[in-house]
Amino acid sequence: MDSLTGKNAVIFGGSSNIGLAIAHRFANEGANVTIVARNEDKLKAAVASIGHGATYAQVDAADDDQVAKFFEPFERVDLLATCAGSFVFGAIDELPVSEWEELFAPRFFGQMRACHYAVPKMPAGSVIMLCSGIAARAGIVEYAGGAGLCGAVNSMGKAMAMELAPREIRVNVLSPGLIIDRPAHEDLKLDDPVNSLRREFVERIPMGRPGFPEDMAEAAMFLAKCDYATGMVLDVDGGWTTI
Ligand SMILES: NC(=O)c1ccc[n+]([C@@H]2O[C@H](COP(=O)([O-])OP(=O)(O)OC[C@H]3O[C@@H](n4cnc5c(N)ncnc54)[C@H](OP(=O)(O)O)[C@@H]3O)[C@@H](O)[C@H]2O)c1
Repeated sequence: MDSLTGKNAVIFGGSSNIGLAIAHRFANEGANVTIVARNEDKLKAAVASIGHGATYAQVDAADDDQVAKFFEPFERVDLLATCAGSFVFGAIDELPVSEWEELFAPRFFGQMRACHYAVPKMPAGSVIMLCSGIAARAGIVEYAGGAGLCGAVNSMGKAMAMELAPREIRVNVLSPGLIIDRPAHEDLKLDDPVNSLRREFVERIPMGRPGFPEDMAEAAMFLAKCDYATGMVLDVDGGWTTI
């Protein structure tokens, strides 16, 4: 894809952190950006910050009817990034399996669902970016379900890349390490459970720092523009998975 000017870009999870940074970047490059998430206040604030005529839709990626209705009016989708989801941690013998199932609802089936409804609208030259996480290979304690999820998304991306290559639709997976925004980065020293876990993660990162959402947006731009990139899992992790 030479230029993003005039391309229709849909970004699930576009109201926060990774998805929001991708939305900013694609809009700055001339794409018509639509962001998708559940909380309307956050969506409104996000489109105001993105500018460039960005629009939003309040959709739960885990709800099939909502996702189907969302895609109906689109004549064309050129870029689809699926970054909607959240985290849960818990010991294998303590956290109820239903909690892991709830994680899969938006983060695995939500991504699959977005592709299911978007692909019929995607012309040759279009690009899909799924989002997984390095937990697929990094071995993170009390994250068994999340690790399985990330591996499943990586595999789904490769299978879809094979399937859609004849239609000239490229499919790749963004695999983030620890990505936090600048205010959260400033707060890293705070003494609370979230930040002590983040500090443990940072100790495992060769570059010695978390990534910023802009780092993910840069990777997303590469995947958008590189016409020979398909079936990739792109680790953006400061070298974490080299260890
Ligand atoms: N940041 C990291 O270090 C990291 C590392 C590995 C993997 N990941 C994964 O990468 C993705 C993006 O991460 P992030 O840090 O940008 O997360 P985030 O800041 O928590 O943002 C998640 C986005 O997804 C939306 N969302 C959540 N559940 C949704 C649903 N059911 N339907 C529609 N939208 C939904 C949220 O908005 P609403 O809540 O308003 O819906 C928000 O816009 C997530 O799946 C995350 O698990 C992140």
